[in-house]
Amino acid sequence: MNKEQLPIVVPIAKIEDENEIVKNFYFDISIGAKPGQFVMLWMPGVDEKPISVALDDGKQLVLTICSRGKATQEMAKMKVGDKLGIRGPFGTHFLTNEGETLALVGGGYGAAPLYFVAYEAAKQGCKIEFIEGARSEKHLVYMEKLKALENTNIHISTDDGSVGHKGYNTEVLKKVLEDTKVDKIMTCGPEIMMQKVGEIGEEAGVNTFVSIERYMKCGFGVCGQCVVDPLGIRTCVSGPVMNYKVAKMFDDFGQYHRDSVGKKEYFNPK
Ligand SMILES: Cc1cc2nc3c(=O)[nH]c(=O)nc-3n(C[C@H](O)[C@H](O)[C@H](O)COP(=O)(O)OP(=O)(O)OC[C@H]3O[C@@H](n4cnc5c(N)ncnc54)[C@H](O)[C@@H]3O)c2cc1C
Ligand code: FES
Repeated sequence: MNKEQLPIVVPIAKIEDENEIVKNFYFDISIGAKPGQFVMLWMPGVDEKPISVALDDGKQLVLTICSRGKATQEMAKMKVGDKLGIRGPFGTHFLTNEGETLALVGGGYGAAPLYFVAYEAAKQGCKIEFIEGARSEKHLVYMEKLKALENTNIHISTDDGSVGHKGYNTEVLKKVLEDTKVDKIMTCGPEIMMQKVGEIGEEAGVNTFVSIERYMKCGFGVCGQCVVDPLGIRTCVSGPVMNYKVAKMFDDFGQYHRDSVGKKEYFNPK
């Protein structure tokens, strides 16, 4: 077995609230993760779940978790000092090169792994257009941390117009692409949003990278749970980060994913 396939048990060093349902969990370890990669987080007695790395700066690892169902709600009750198991890092990552101009488009907790991209890319002298969408001002995440980064312009959209553009972050992306020459687009968040981002990127002739979430059990390619048709690729090893050109070949991209027993869960149930 490779080192990253076995869990290391670490106590939570710090917990921060991002908003009423999203928290940052800090661990005093580095696992050498790159932006876009994920870990399998084991909550003893609860479950083990895939979670993206929101920062690994060589000293601390940060995971940003949104309370949704049983496991993540249990996670939200954890306290500093509680011990968790971490396996990883797993999967592909977002690739940035020195001096590039990047448009990063995040929705919900998807903004957290994109913060990690911006954090590393700012050090490479990249120019970053960070476009974040949320339901309202109080649902935004990572605002203070993004403001502290160099070479980063923050663009906000909210559904209710409480701050920034009233509407979708994809509308803001279109405007950014009109005003700025962008080398790459990277996106993480609801799949319907990423599908739209991919279409806009393709229309503008800009290479676009998405981060795919499919039900994951092992995280390193042995269980077959995260395979997508018709390509037969495992999204835990060929993803989560992949070119939109690949993702749009999935039968289910932007439509549905499957739960733990293979039942379809539609992103936009009728
Ligand atoms: C590569 C990857 C990175 C992720 N990064 C983050 C992150 O940074 N922060 C975060 O809050 N969440 C992240 N998630 C999603 C997170 O794994 C699920 O929200 C969590 O597993 C939900 O579990 P639950 O018991 O709280 O909710 P449930 O009610 O069980 O499920 C809520 C939703 O999450 C899906 N889900 C449940 N278990 C899994 C699983 N093992 N694998 C994939 N999807 C699952 C369900 O199908 C459902 O759509 C990521 C998922 C993947 C695949
Ligand atoms: S989660 Fe097991 S093969 Fe991908």
